Amino acid sequence: MSAPSSIEQLRARFLDELAHVESEAAVRALRDRYLGRRSGALAALMKGVGQAPAAERPILGQLANELKREIAEALTSRVVAVRETRPPASAVDITLPGRRPPLGHPHPLTATRDRIEAIFSRMGYQIIEGPEVEDEYHNFEALNMPESHPARDMQDTLYTAEPLPAGPAIASVGGTGHPRPLTLLRTHTSGMQIRHMERHQPPVRLIAPGRVYRRDSLDLTHSPMFHQVEGLVVGEDISLADLKGTLVGFLQQLFAPGTPVRFRPSFFPYTEPSAEVDIGCLFCDSAGCAVCKRTGWLEILGSGMVHPAVFEAVGYDAERYTGFAFGMGIERVAMLKHRVEDIRLFYDNDLRFLEQFPA
Ligand code: DAH
Repeated sequence: MSAPSSIEQLRARFLDELAHVESEAAVRALRDRYLGRRSGALAALMKGVGQAPAAERPILGQLANELKREIAEALTSRVVAVRETRPPASAVDITLPGRRPPLGHPHPLTATRDRIEAIFSRMGYQIIEGPEVEDEYHNFEALNMPESHPARDMQDTLYTAEPLPAGPAIASVGGTGHPRPLTLLRTHTSGMQIRHMERHQPPVRLIAPGRVYRRDSLDLTHSPMFHQVEGLVVGEDISLADLKGTLVGFLQQLFAPGTPVRFRPSFFPYTEPSAEVDIGCLFCDSAGCAVCKRTGWLEILGSGMVHPAVFEAVGYDAERYTGFAFGMGIERVAMLKHRVEDIRLFYDNDLRFLEQFPA
């Protein structure tokens, strides 16, 4: 066989193999086999050229170089072709259905607060906010909780100020022997009733959501910081029937239409009469279970008709105006609504918990 015909054979073999490669890796392997510096077919061919009779060498060398260039070009265009038709495994498969990027959503407490605000907004209530560091006057005194009231005890309330040095002008808290500090972390949102009425005349229709603080240790159902929503309505001829109608309407929107609601006589210093409001147990359909302690009812908020002493503190005419007020815990609502048994889960920010409450 002449040397030129062996070059022709090599070309034919290469073209045949090239026609069968389908991946970039296969093209690379083919290149190694033909153009590899040490053991490639072209390297062997060149060696053969070197050993050919001197007269044939120039033409053989030229033919071999032509083939080498041809192979290199063919390999390059094959790589491009293979890339276009067959993406590597790591590439995006555009035929797959799209994957949704993870989207954030409100914290379950925020979502609960938003829901409560939405219901009252629809009923024409104004939403107000106020300071978490409060004074004794707005948190207690003006709400008809005089200095001797047990809730003022340092056992229950977190006072912010350093105890003032004892002196003739400073009264002491009943029983504790501590001088009376001036500021505290509000123990409830009820002080917002006072703050608003001090600056606005009736009619009043508001809710005041926000953080509150108590001297409690963190356990299943207690947290030293939690959230409340306060409500206040004042006007002429506001009656207990308005209180009942409003709260039943609210609770049935918050939980479910037809949810049973009952009012139980109770006591708060700033309302008279006062009522605690229960809803039929969501867990046993009022049949009685561990959550409702076999009563069939769950306590959900405190309420009552605004005490005349409160109106007096803000300079409202208690003969002319009446009103009702209510307060509830946002954590409690969220726990009941979502059957969360440990209040601490709301504050841990564990995504495994939070992701169970998509918007
Ligand atoms: N302040 C009460 C509490 O912290 C809740 C409350 C009860 C608010 C009765 C009110 C009310 O406005 O009328 O538990």
